Amino acid sequence: MISKSINPVLVFLLSVSYSLLFLAPFCHAANNTLTRGQSLKDGESLISVDENFELGFFSPGNSSLRYFGIRYYKIRDQAAIWVANREKPISGSDGVLRIGEDGNLLVADGNGSPVWSSNASVVSNNTAAMLDPTGNLILSSNDSIGETDKAYWQSFSNPTDTYLPNMKVLISSAEIHAFTSWKSANDPSPGNFTMGVDPRGAPQIVVWERSRRRWRSGHWNGLIFSGVPYMTALTTYRYGFKVTRESDGKFYFTYNPSDNSELMRFQITWNGFEEQKRWNESAKTWQVMQSQPSEECENYNYCGNFGVCTSSGSHKCRCMEGFEPRQPDQWRRGNWSGGCGRRSPLQCQRNTSSGGEDGFKTLRGLKLPDFADVESISLDACREMCLNNCSCKAYAHVSQIQCMIWNGDLIDVQRFVEGGNTLYVRLADSELGRSRMPTYVIILIVLAGLAFLAISIWLLWMLKKSLKVLPAATSACTSSKCELPVYDLSKSKEYSTDASGSADLVIEGSQVNGSDLPMFNFNCLAAATNNFSEENKLGQGGFGLVYKGKLPGGKEIAVKRLSKISGQGLQEFKNEIILIAKLQHRNLVRLLGCSIQGDEKMLIYEYMPNKSLDYFLFDPDKQALLDWSKRFAIIEGIARGLLYLHRDSRLRIIHRDLKASNILLDEEMNPKISDFGMARIFGGNQSEINTNRVVGTYGYMAPEYAMEGLFSVKSDVYSFGVLLLEIVSGRRNTSFRQTERMILIAYAWDLWNEGKAMDIVDLSIRDSCDENEVLRCIQIGMLCVQDSALHRPTMASVVLMLESSTTSIPLPRQPTFTSVRASIDPEISLEVQEVASSSDLTVKVVAGR
Ligand SMILES: *[C@@H]1O[C@H](CO)[C@@H](O)[C@H](O)[C@H]1NC(C)=O
Ligand SMILES: *[C@@H]1O[C@H](CO)[C@@H](O)[C@H](O)[C@H]1NC(C)=O
Ligand SMILES: *[C@@H]1O[C@H](CO)[C@@H](O)[C@H](O)[C@H]1NC(C)=O
Ligand SMILES: *[C@@H]1O[C@H](CO)[C@@H](O)[C@H](O)[C@H]1NC(C)=O
Ligand SMILES: *[C@@H]1O[C@H](CO)[C@@H](O)[C@H](O)[C@H]1NC(C)=O
Ligand SMILES: *[C@@H]1O[C@H](CO)[C@@H](O)[C@H](O)[C@H]1NC(C)=O
Ligand SMILES: *[C@@H]1O[C@H](CO)[C@@H](O)[C@H](O)[C@H]1NC(C)=O
Ligand SMILES: *[C@@H]1O[C@H](CO)[C@@H](O)[C@H](O)[C@H]1NC(C)=O
Ligand SMILES: *[C@@H]1O[C@H](CO)[C@@H](O)[C@H](O)[C@H]1NC(C)=O
Ligand SMILES: *[C@@H]1O[C@H](CO)[C@@H](O)[C@H](O)[C@H]1NC(C)=O
Repeated sequence: MISKSINPVLVFLLSVSYSLLFLAPFCHAANNTLTRGQSLKDGESLISVDENFELGFFSPGNSSLRYFGIRYYKIRDQAAIWVANREKPISGSDGVLRIGEDGNLLVADGNGSPVWSSNASVVSNNTAAMLDPTGNLILSSNDSIGETDKAYWQSFSNPTDTYLPNMKVLISSAEIHAFTSWKSANDPSPGNFTMGVDPRGAPQIVVWERSRRRWRSGHWNGLIFSGVPYMTALTTYRYGFKVTRESDGKFYFTYNPSDNSELMRFQITWNGFEEQKRWNESAKTWQVMQSQPSEECENYNYCGNFGVCTSSGSHKCRCMEGFEPRQPDQWRRGNWSGGCGRRSPLQCQRNTSSGGEDGFKTLRGLKLPDFADVESISLDACREMCLNNCSCKAYAHVSQIQCMIWNGDLIDVQRFVEGGNTLYVRLADSELGRSRMPTYVIILIVLAGLAFLAISIWLLWMLKKSLKVLPAATSACTSSKCELPVYDLSKSKEYSTDASGSADLVIEGSQVNGSDLPMFNFNCLAAATNNFSEENKLGQGGFGLVYKGKLPGGKEIAVKRLSKISGQGLQEFKNEIILIAKLQHRNLVRLLGCSIQGDEKMLIYEYMPNKSLDYFLFDPDKQALLDWSKRFAIIEGIARGLLYLHRDSRLRIIHRDLKASNILLDEEMNPKISDFGMARIFGGNQSEINTNRVVGTYGYMAPEYAMEGLFSVKSDVYSFGVLLLEIVSGRRNTSFRQTERMILIAYAWDLWNEGKAMDIVDLSIRDSCDENEVLRCIQIGMLCVQDSALHRPTMASVVLMLESSTTSIPLPRQPTFTSVRASIDPEISLEVQEVASSSDLTVKVVAGR
């Protein structure tokens, strides 16, 4: 009896000491790798360097079967994130992992028969496997151990039910069911549910039950999934989703939570929910942050085709306007699945030509229907395109995705309480409720209109007459230094008093206070700038060309001639003169006067001999002229100028188009912020304004501004951050896109994160600069370009951090915003490249809402 019972213990001890001996040399190296000849028995495991993940055998829940896979290691709930032998569990604890004859990973049971193999085509006969700190098991040749790009096989490319940070999910041209649920909580074998990406239109995340859709995230618009109501541009940092194009030329979804120390995962649960979970160390549980579908309306097409689901209220489903339930009796019983049908056919569906043209009904705040076709054309072209094709049922225009067109039924539409997109649904003329007014009403309205017009014209004429009393305001060329050129005498009538089209402008001008702001005469300026000749051209400002001029006394000036074509010109001009006339700061460019003559509107500034910052910064020959101390002084100067605009001036001004070409340099290289054309006065306690006209420059626009038209002092801070990084690196923010390295911000973040921040610094100053100062600057820059406006510092704290080398600087969060369009449509990518190559393109976007 005794000898019998001792025997197994001895054998056990022997085998332990044997395996210790065997593992000894490799234990000293690392215990996260397995090389050829080594094996991993049940009870042993590989552990990632940061001890977050473990690779080994385990039994899920109260199952007694053994599975081989990756689990969390140092936390209490060792949830499994990947399982190898899902379908072939081992019943005893005698399983083993080794590297097979063909170089593949091989899990075998006690009899030595394989239950799972990585089954990759391997070219090396000396392979090794490593569990890396992200939880990825990588099989590669022993020479390039742990390198994902040289991997023969990796668990991240063959996931089971869990989507981890850093994992790349391919966006291909067809839908990919990348993740498969477990069968039950204790059984990892493949269940009924899958989760993956559908690329059609713009990519979206979809949960399927077998081949039937169960839930979808809505289209990716470059920043958020538009059908997930709580996801807004301001919260993206929490999710950290982005689409990247990798070196293989393909597009992938990845996500990186803002806080890297948090354990986070997405999972398709055995019962069919897409769940996002975060480890809560104090509560020692996996906290479910969100779970989808979370309510009835989230279920795919809950209200049927052409139905709209509203989660609040008792009546969940309604038909879109112009539609009625297909089966009214089922619908009344609360069985919505039959959906709705069109009440009156579209004109193009009828074969009589009676009735008016089809039109569109606007539905707001929606999760847009599934299965869109995407075209990169304008809103108007989109509408036109839809009208011209009878199969088009609706269209929408979403910034970043552009024109979306639906040719089939409108499926899975939900109405949100907040957010959402606008859909234009095509309806027959008779459904649009265009009121048919009696003829006499129309005649009355026309008559009233005509009378109103006549009175207005008479009033204007009177006003113009009264203004002729003030000729001196526009005719003098500040004092009498500038003589009227003889050749232009024929136009003398015009410049003396012509106020056509600018009557209110003159009034505004006098409010500004005529004596503070001298008026220049047009002909005088024409003479000073050599008749606006090409040689005198200094550059292109926001809304017009800038010329160098010389007044008769010899004083040099810069004249900005506002373009006549620009519809905004007048408005911006008014803003600019009123604002700039009141602002005085050594880091703001000074306005000397203005000129108004008919359509011609001009601003006269002090002349800056050293042009603008971009002229030096991005020119390989001139970069070196700006050494680090000059650059630092420029950064500080811009920061102070901006602080003045934001806080210290009597008005509260948001610049909205801060960029290198808007920073002018005087003879001592002091920076002066110019171009206030787009600035807006802030009244009272408003701190954030929503505008439906987004004006600015790609690459400098904060995400919430570019996407939602929200601007605040913090959107200027974002632009300042971009500018700061440009000054440090000597490279344009946009110069990176052609090389697919995304934007400067992403590049800077990567280097900063890897502790190689000095690599960002312009080569021409890298040796001469003060490393501490540069690193502080980069960190401040990274703080300013954070996704969330809330997290960005104010200019006041930026100035403080810049000026005092002892102030501690917080750690920035990873920015996720990239301007790279999410779509995989080659035409769209092409367009992005065009945008990228014309470096300082000023864009105006009409926001979606
Ligand atoms: C191997 O992992 C164990 C468990 O985390 C750890 O205690 C040990 O120090 C590691 N050994 C080496 C050589 O890294
Ligand atoms: C794998 O490479 C490591 C060094 O990187 C070496 O120590 C080890 O012996 C190699 N293993 C095999 C099986 O070649
Ligand atoms: C696992 O345990 C739960 C209760 O703890 C029980 O309901 C369930 O039936 C068990 N499953 C198996 C496979 O034993
Ligand atoms: C291994 O891959 C080949 C083709 O690549 C496939 O035919 C075979 O079924 C796979 N074997 C296993 C066990 O998955
Ligand atoms: C590995 O392959 C190389 C050439 O392909 C061969 O020379 C070498 O002997 C092989 N080594 C083993 C251990 O099979
Ligand atoms: C999966 O589908 C099968 C067959 O339709 C069904 O019996 C089973 O209950 C489903 N499992 C889950 C978790 O829904
Ligand atoms: C962690 O859980 C505790 C207790 O449930 C809760 O009070 C705390 O807010 C949670 N932490 C986070 C970061 O959610
Ligand atoms: C709901 O209506 C559909 C047809 O629209 C029908 O096929 C289905 O059986 C109905 N379901 C119930 C539960 O009545
Ligand atoms: C008119 O349209 C109906 C279907 O809407 C079709 O059945 C019929 O053949 C058409 N008639 C002519 C003359 O085209
Ligand atoms: C209308 O759209 C459908 C679907 O995109 C397309 O197949 C068809 O060619 C279009 N017809 C015309 C006349 O453009």
